[in-house]
Amino acid sequence: MEYDFDKVEDRHNTNSVKWDFNKSKFGEENIIPMWIADMDFKVPEIVIEAIKKRADHGVFGYTAPKESYYNSVINWMDKHHNFKVEKQWICPAPAVVPALYWIVQSYTEKGDKVIIQPPVYHRFKGAIEDNQRIVVENPLKLVDGRYYMDFDDLEKKIDSKVKLLFLCSPHNPVGRVWTKEELKRLGEICLKNNIIVVADEIHSDLVFQGYKHVAFPNAGEGFANNTIICTAPTKTFNIAGLQVCNIIIPNKSLREEFLHTLKINAMGDLNTFGMVALEAAYNEGESWYSEVLKYIQDNFNFLNNYLKEHLPKIKVIKAEATYLAWVDFTALGMTDEELRDFLLKNAKVAFNDGYIFGKTGQGFQRVNLACSRSILKEALVRITNAISNAGKNI
Ligand SMILES: Cc1ncc(COP(=O)(O)O)c(C=O)c1O
Repeated sequence: MEYDFDKVEDRHNTNSVKWDFNKSKFGEENIIPMWIADMDFKVPEIVIEAIKKRADHGVFGYTAPKESYYNSVINWMDKHHNFKVEKQWICPAPAVVPALYWIVQSYTEKGDKVIIQPPVYHRFKGAIEDNQRIVVENPLKLVDGRYYMDFDDLEKKIDSKVKLLFLCSPHNPVGRVWTKEELKRLGEICLKNNIIVVADEIHSDLVFQGYKHVAFPNAGEGFANNTIICTAPTKTFNIAGLQVCNIIIPNKSLREEFLHTLKINAMGDLNTFGMVALEAAYNEGESWYSEVLKYIQDNFNFLNNYLKEHLPKIKVIKAEATYLAWVDFTALGMTDEELRDFLLKNAKVAFNDGYIFGKTGQGFQRVNLACSRSILKEALVRITNAISNAGKNI
């Protein structure tokens, strides 16, 4: 191993949302935070060097992406996902969440409907409802410990008001890597019903051994023309604070509508350091990336084995991607509020409550495993002790 992910980086006093704001968010300070989706790991040295070099220049006026930026994106997408991207398709933006809001504004009117597949990344719902559009839920089905799309339910929910479907691929929080067949069936239903697919593929690089992410445009005939693909190096390389992502829109008229929305919202220039970091990471971050992925996968195995041995009734859904474990705490027999309080106050750990991802997330917690193993271990020991102190026999 070239990188030491066991080393605990002290993130306190870095304006870290995960480490510096727990008192205001949870009312608790001395907790282990394993909630918001960033990593506790230091980024590749090559990225740090590139940022330092740019910082040393000392002039930070307005900046814009050059040819080399676009080439870095094009090469990464081709190499990792066999997704052949043309330069003009790429719309750089500061982050995926604001882009989701702009996407809703671009392709729907107030009162239109947008489909989501809960339990799913909670900001999807916000992007729809904050814009006075209507959320239509097509819940995933949990069958023998694995989540699946429910196509029959999807077809029943479609009417002429449905304009978009938000696809999370791979899926946060349930960790599924959708197969080509699943994506094909989904895409065909959407094509037939004139529904644009918004494929949020921000987690697509974080796919575990044995699984393969299929870029949505590659899943079926005509899909590229009907898809907005959201990509970013921010989850993969832990650079969310640098604000950089790319919304890829192959269809010219859809792209023009999106760019028009950026224009009328006066979307500003990109962050200088975000662009520098993207190029360094995509061009030279390969060895860090493959090692971090392995470390995260090992954390999943650690979590799984620990729970089997010490808390066998708490089940973790087998993850195929992402660093977010989806853990079923229903065996504790608590309401969501009780579970949240118990984890925060008794165990002193903070996860994301499952219900924020949708009703079917009740009783679950989303646990961020992008941390050093000693932190993960400490969190699990705290939970075990809290359960035992509460006299619960599980
Ligand atoms: C599916 C998904 N989309 C978007 C985001 C956030 O992206 P950004 O930081 O670029 O807004 C996350 C973060 O957890 C996510 O899981």
